[in-house]
Amino acid sequence: MPRLFDRALASTVPLLPRPIVRKVSARYIAGDTLTDALTTVRRLSAAGCVGTVDLLGEHVTRREQPLATKAAYREAIRRLAEENLPAGVSVKPTAFGLAVDREFCLQNLREIAAAAAEHGRFMRVDMEESEYTTATLDLVHELHRDHPNIGAVIQARLRRSPVDIESLLRERISVRLCKGIYQEAPSEALQDPDQIRLAYLRLLDRLLEAGCYAGIATHDRWLAERSLEIVRHHGLDRDQYEFQMLMGVAEPLRRRLVAGGHRVRVYVPYGGDWYAYSRRRLQENPQIATAIALSLIGRTTDTRR
Ligand code: FDA
Repeated sequence: MPRLFDRALASTVPLLPRPIVRKVSARYIAGDTLTDALTTVRRLSAAGCVGTVDLLGEHVTRREQPLATKAAYREAIRRLAEENLPAGVSVKPTAFGLAVDREFCLQNLREIAAAAAEHGRFMRVDMEESEYTTATLDLVHELHRDHPNIGAVIQARLRRSPVDIESLLRERISVRLCKGIYQEAPSEALQDPDQIRLAYLRLLDRLLEAGCYAGIATHDRWLAERSLEIVRHHGLDRDQYEFQMLMGVAEPLRRRLVAGGHRVRVYVPYGGDWYAYSRRRLQENPQIATAIALSLIGRTTDTRR
């Protein structure tokens, strides 16, 4: 019953007042500023993790916005290098103008990729809704020709993913493999959780078999265990794959992986444009009802598991 209630509440997240969304989602976001993100990366590093920093924001419609985003990423890369922090960056193509002008977006991403390369950093290109999948993969292929420090994301639930990974493998592009967070039509994406898990494992097996450096991005304990079996099956060393998790989610699993000697990268979002990201996080949080109720009566809770 409580689970049913949680699920029902999750569907009402878009109706929640922004201050409540902000409060309950605070643990998923480093803070408003780059300094907050760097502090989080430092804390994660002390706990044995590496990071990937993401400036929040997506789906921009005006050309000035990506220019500001680009400047912010340059500064983030410079400071990560200056302070010798173990982290790269993650970027969303629609934050760099993909929905406005593809060439403009490519040029913006080229500049960030070059800045990242100059400072020895990795740049992961996040994957957004399926209407952007082809354009995003094309961008990754094009960027990777000049900048090998670029990686892609593949969403296991998308029906096209087995084909997409083959072209990434041909160019030896690193892949972050996740289930996929966006609502998609059944014609585009698997809907059944068990089928998505199996698709994930098949894709991971193929990536690792082909020698791809894969980011195993999941908080699903079952899936993490099966993924480890695949890693062992291929006899991989610890520097041939990594686990990836979102800040504030499933920290006990994260600690177990670190204790087991696996590299774990944590996604560290920051910035003032927190609303869309927070909504997605809350809609996935199974204990959202408790968190919101306590927030409404002015108490905080730690629903981390
Ligand atoms: P699942 O959803 O089954 O979650 C496993 C467990 O974690 C469950 O018990 C669940 O309740 C719990 N959990 C999940 N979210 C929680 C939360 N917010 N609070 C508390 N518990 C929570 N997607 C995408 O489409 N494009 C992308 O570029 C990325 N990038 C990305 C980077 C990284 C580092 C990660 C870890 C994930 C992504 N994702 C993503 C998101 C991904 O596609 C997926 O939606 C989430 O990781 C949830 O799927 P899981 O595999 O964790 O399983």
